[in-house]
Amino acid sequence: MRTPFVAGNWKMFMSVAEARHLVSEMVPGLQAVEGVEKVLCPPFPSLLAVRALLEGTDIGLGAQNMHWETSGAYTGEVSPLMVAELCHYVIIGHSERRQYFCESDENVQRKVQAALTHGLAAIVCVGESLEENEAGRTAEVVSRQITQGLAGLNLTGTDAESGAASLIIAYEPVWAIGTGRAATAQGANAVVADVIRPALANLFGDPTAQAVRVLYGGSVKAGNAAEFFAQPEIDGALVGGASLKIAEFIPIVQAAKA
Ligand code: PGA
Repeated sequence: MRTPFVAGNWKMFMSVAEARHLVSEMVPGLQAVEGVEKVLCPPFPSLLAVRALLEGTDIGLGAQNMHWETSGAYTGEVSPLMVAELCHYVIIGHSERRQYFCESDENVQRKVQAALTHGLAAIVCVGESLEENEAGRTAEVVSRQITQGLAGLNLTGTDAESGAASLIIAYEPVWAIGTGRAATAQGANAVVADVIRPALANLFGDPTAQAVRVLYGGSVKAGNAAEFFAQPEIDGALVGGASLKIAEFIPIVQAAKA
């Protein structure tokens, strides 16, 4: 049994003051939902403030990116040590980073490796662009992103489940992100079943591939979340825009409850 997982990716939204306000309002509703791993990923400047508000709750905290080196002359970057000091999760390889900041599969691999080395759980994003989708290249692109992005990783744990706990995959078709045009639940499930889990099995073996949580992301809302969660291969969601609205995000987390 894979524990359902829902993360809110705040992207570049919310001042520290706004973050404090939103989290204070959200905590009771989120805490009331048991049996779902819940994570908030605010921008770096708000991590410390949000961490204080989440203390003593079962709600996790994540960063949206990080560098792979532990320290060095990398102006403007944040190291895995710094992230691990504040949170347990980190989003890696989001399509916006791949698209606007030249993040390659090689860099994703370095970052995931660094995350695991520092005891972080990595939420690794994969997904094809509209052009790739229309050209029928979804399987090829997603399989390459998994295979190269996770190459050579050692998922440490006493069994498949504990090893897999530190790796979460988010399937986010680029054309579905922030567009209001979500993939169909069946279509997303098929990509997870036919492309993502087989690629994970090639790398880590079948028991681990079955134990890794795979999320759907891209225009998830209160109104469509249950449809995705009803799919056998989809274990939760990475939520962007709707994670900033209490009336949207709490029902999404509730819908993930097994
Ligand atoms: P969206 O973003 O829910 O606003 O489409 C999802 C994401 O980018 O993780």
